[in-house]
Amino acid sequence: MPNHRRWFVALAAAVLLIAGAVLLREARATATSRAGEEAGAGAQSATASDKSKGGSVWGANYFPNVPLVTHEGKTVRFFDDLIKDKVVAINFIYTTCPDACPMETARLLEVQQLLGEERMGKDVFFYSISIDPEHDTPEVLNKFVKDWQIGPGWTFLTGREEDIIQLRKKFGVYIEEIQGPDSRDHNLSLVIGNQSTGRWMKRSPFENAYVLAKQIGGELHNWKIASTVKRDYAKAPELRNDVSKGETLFRTRCEACHTIGGGDVVQLNARRIGPDLYKVTERRDRAWLERWLKAPDEMLAEKDPLAMALYARYNNVPMPNMQLNDVETQAILEHIEKESARVEKHVKMGHRRDPMAAIQAAAGAVVQQDHGGQQDHGDHHDHGDHAMHHD
Ligand code: HEC
Repeated sequence: MPNHRRWFVALAAAVLLIAGAVLLREARATATSRAGEEAGAGAQSATASDKSKGGSVWGANYFPNVPLVTHEGKTVRFFDDLIKDKVVAINFIYTTCPDACPMETARLLEVQQLLGEERMGKDVFFYSISIDPEHDTPEVLNKFVKDWQIGPGWTFLTGREEDIIQLRKKFGVYIEEIQGPDSRDHNLSLVIGNQSTGRWMKRSPFENAYVLAKQIGGELHNWKIASTVKRDYAKAPELRNDVSKGETLFRTRCEACHTIGGGDVVQLNARRIGPDLYKVTERRDRAWLERWLKAPDEMLAEKDPLAMALYARYNNVPMPNMQLNDVETQAILEHIEKESARVEKHVKMGHRRDPMAAIQAAAGAVVQQDHGGQQDHGDHHDHGDHAMHHD
């Protein structure tokens, strides 16, 4: 390059630098309304609202671009980094939640496995935002992600309380009346949507995982990706009209975390957060079982030895208190018994493998009641039905 041209390039660069600095200062001046905001972010969200078609109503001018911190300690912007032009599932949780949120998390875990690695983090993103930022630091969230073995494409986030409340209000999942000063009661709050089309829906965590996966992976993508799973009408489940109360309860409240002798059959998506419950009514003392179903949180708090052993074995994820009454508890146990008997019949006819060996391998020493007190610490990753694939 001739000398004078080199000078010209250097000069142009210097001019750009100065211009950049001036712009930056201006941006800083206009961005003061939001404390903690970095320079330049204001300018960025202006372009975001122009670009995002959903933007006229559901764009950067609707969703605040508040900063949040991921479980990996990275600061991100809600609109620009998390939802802009993406298909997302968002829920608001807290890690010490004893009842509803673990169910939501477990359900999403199922959905995550259904969508698979080729979708998660590529064209579908999950976000769980803590509503208890004081307790749920990035470190706490990181441990949670590890304990639950949350896969890729799903980020846990924390931030400033007022920012998170603002987000909940924007999604319509903040109910003023139940927000006492100490209350963490929160509206069950799963929202799925496609920011660029502006299509958002509230969903119940009690929803079937397959339905959710279809809505997130198909409908919200305008079915752009053909299903890779070949389905056969001959294999379609029969329509049943004999679903008992216990089965309904089990499907909506328990199935996200438990199978009943299923690990063998379900194959795909078999990993669950909790133990397989095949013949659990024979393996456990009835009174223990009934109490566990009604108040697992109390039993863990009292350090019941069997409860503690299971808790350790299952990655320190506590079973939630599902607020079941006596009638519901009995109905569920009856369903587990019936379903176990059904599975056993198929085992005896040679139609399927006996799930017991796999359950023993997965739960180890805590399968038998009399070993309840035995501590079996494990950062095992072979727990649950996971291990059932291998034999
Ligand atoms: C969010 C996940 C989750 C949900 C939902 C859940 N459980 Fe559990 N469950 C667990 C975990 C994890 C354990 C192991 C103990 C622990 O870590 O607290 C467990 C343990 C159990 C056990 C003891 C198993 C054994 O080997 O003794 C039974 C029985 C049980 N759950 C039944 C149920 C029933 C019935 C429901 C629905 C009403 C249910 N669970 C809902 C996670 C869950």
